[in-house]
Amino acid sequence: MPVEGVSSDLQQVDAPPPAAARPAATGGVPVRLNVNGLPYSVTLDPRTSLLDLLREHLDLTGTKKGCDQGQCGACTVLVDGRRINSCLTFAVMLDGAEVTTIEGLATNGALHPVQQAFIDHDAFQCGYCTPGQICSAVGLLAEGRAKTADDIRELMSGNICRCGAYPHIVAAIEDVMRRS
Ligand code: FES
Ligand code: FES
Repeated sequence: MPVEGVSSDLQQVDAPPPAAARPAATGGVPVRLNVNGLPYSVTLDPRTSLLDLLREHLDLTGTKKGCDQGQCGACTVLVDGRRINSCLTFAVMLDGAEVTTIEGLATNGALHPVQQAFIDHDAFQCGYCTPGQICSAVGLLAEGRAKTADDIRELMSGNICRCGAYPHIVAAIEDVMRRS
């Protein structure tokens, strides 16, 4: 059954391959990728999501697991500068990719402007959705498609905040958009 917001390619990957094509249960797939500017070389069960690679293998727990089904945006990270749901992405698909998580946004101890704006505008409450909101906002600003607050609301609609901090989140992103 088609899943809203999921590309047909990904659905195809999601479908289990015929038994003969499946890797041996004990085998792993080697993957090299850069995360927050550091090179990693890992051997993974091919079913490992990027989210689980980050949290369980690399100990980068800033990226949050909410629904694990592509519906909440808590797991949003940047891959080659593009925002994606890491729970829907197999890590083995990312050989050679540049991944940026919330831990990699600050430079030389200075917060990323979006991180600073979230603080300035009181844009988080419990903070659970915040890493995904911030990574998504960084990707949105790089896309350059948002011109108004309504655009921001629409383009951030894949990121759910259970605390209802949306007005402050939009104000924070709008602030950075205006200044950049
Ligand atoms: S945990 Fe990935 S979208 Fe919810
Ligand atoms: S700040 Fe709590 S879920 Fe968003």
